Amino acid sequence: MKTSMTIAVLGATGMVGSRVIDEAGARGHRVIALSRKPAGENPANPNVTPVAVDANDPDAVREALAGRRRTAPCAADTASLAAADAVVLTVRTMPVDHKFLVATTRTVLDIAARLGIRVLVIGGAGALRSPDDRDLLVADNPAYVPADIRAVAAAGVAQLRACQSHADADCVYLSPPALLEPGVRTGRYRRGTDTLLVSADGRSWISTEDLAVAVIDELETPGPDHHITVVHQRA
Ligand SMILES: NC(=O)c1ccc[n+]([C@@H]2O[C@H](COP(=O)([O-])OP(=O)(O)OC[C@H]3O[C@@H](n4cnc5c(N)ncnc54)[C@H](OP(=O)(O)O)[C@@H]3O)[C@@H](O)[C@H]2O)c1
Repeated sequence: MKTSMTIAVLGATGMVGSRVIDEAGARGHRVIALSRKPAGENPANPNVTPVAVDANDPDAVREALAGRRRTAPCAADTASLAAADAVVLTVRTMPVDHKFLVATTRTVLDIAARLGIRVLVIGGAGALRSPDDRDLLVADNPAYVPADIRAVAAAGVAQLRACQSHADADCVYLSPPALLEPGVRTGRYRRGTDTLLVSADGRSWISTEDLAVAVIDELETPGPDHHITVVHQRA
């Protein structure tokens, strides 16, 4: 188990990224918090360093993961942070931008492979197999994915394929359950691999706080699987 890591989170200000940062910070890890419009310096947790990075700029992503940050916009000078031991990729665009998602995923995988950094991608539930028909992806199953969000689900599947086809990256793709929303941190969840999980209450769901627990658990104690999912577990 890795007790003290430097974890980069790309998508730091998002619903998922912000909870991953809270969980990592609470466990004493250092965090490099990356997004285009970063939150201000967080005096409550000096271990969290916000850095402005656009995922469309591979050089900026590389610098940030290597632990260098520009001291001012467009500045040549850089300040040093610890290099990342792991990166959590959790970006999203509205509306979905399939090309951006796949390109960003490849960029992060390429850089991480060169730097020897583990990658955890927060992907989509659509990339999972259906519980009642393992040959049918959730993305193609109208019981879970109505037509109006099929493009979002398809982008998640393409993102998973980008991870699976990258020869050198040390990558795990985490598919949330069907419903992921802010809630309560219970610390309880059930873990699976490539098939959608349903909780004891019949729903496929987890709070974003408990998803963040699962993310940091996976980084601290990596499992053997490259595609994992989690679901809420009752006490
Ligand atoms: N049930 C499900 O399958 C399910 C449900 C919810 C979410 N998810 C997945 O979880 C992941 C995160 O979703 P979320 O809800 O946390 O998204 P979100 O709240 O919309 O946050 C998106 C994050 O991406 C960052 N971002 C967007 N474009 C960027 C760029 N060019 N460069 C750098 N950062 C950029 C945003 O920051 P800036 O705008 O400041 O750059 C923000 O921090 C996504 O992969 C999403 O598909 C899955």
